[in-house]
Amino acid sequence: ATTRYEAERAPATCDGTIDSNYAGYSGTGFCNGRNAVGAAVQFTVDAPQAGTATLAVRFANGTTTARPADITVNGSPAASAPFESTGTWAGWTIRTLTVPLRAGGNTVRFTPTTSGGLPNLDHLDAEVSGTVPPPSGS
Ligand code: GCU
Ligand code: CA
Repeated sequence: ATTRYEAERAPATCDGTIDSNYAGYSGTGFCNGRNAVGAAVQFTVDAPQAGTATLAVRFANGTTTARPADITVNGSPAASAPFESTGTWAGWTIRTLTVPLRAGGNTVRFTPTTSGGLPNLDHLDAEVSGTVPPPSGS
């Protein structure tokens, strides 16, 4: 099963504004990060047990220039993403990342490495793999 984490819903944080002026977002809006290196978006992803997760981040980049970002999990480098142009700001696109998670809450932070900042970020869908405990009594 996947769990959705909206960028506009706490405990997620957005170094920018929550906007809703481009159609197609989920929830009530998306994070329009400041156009600056380091203007990050952070999600808290819950995992029932330690394991590997597939994260699907939904974004739009209406410029013609990529907006690369480094992704950390609990402060440790875990992935990177180019966040290439999606054509228009309503051109929502999904990129998947594979990252390690620990049991409990995990901070997943997207930090832009160029002056354009992040693309607009809509949500993160997390699919956490791992052993499903057997039913009690078995
Ligand atoms: C425009 C657009 C924003 C976007 C910004 C950017 O202002 O309306 O949604 O975040 O460009 O370049 O980051
Ligand atoms: Ca922006």
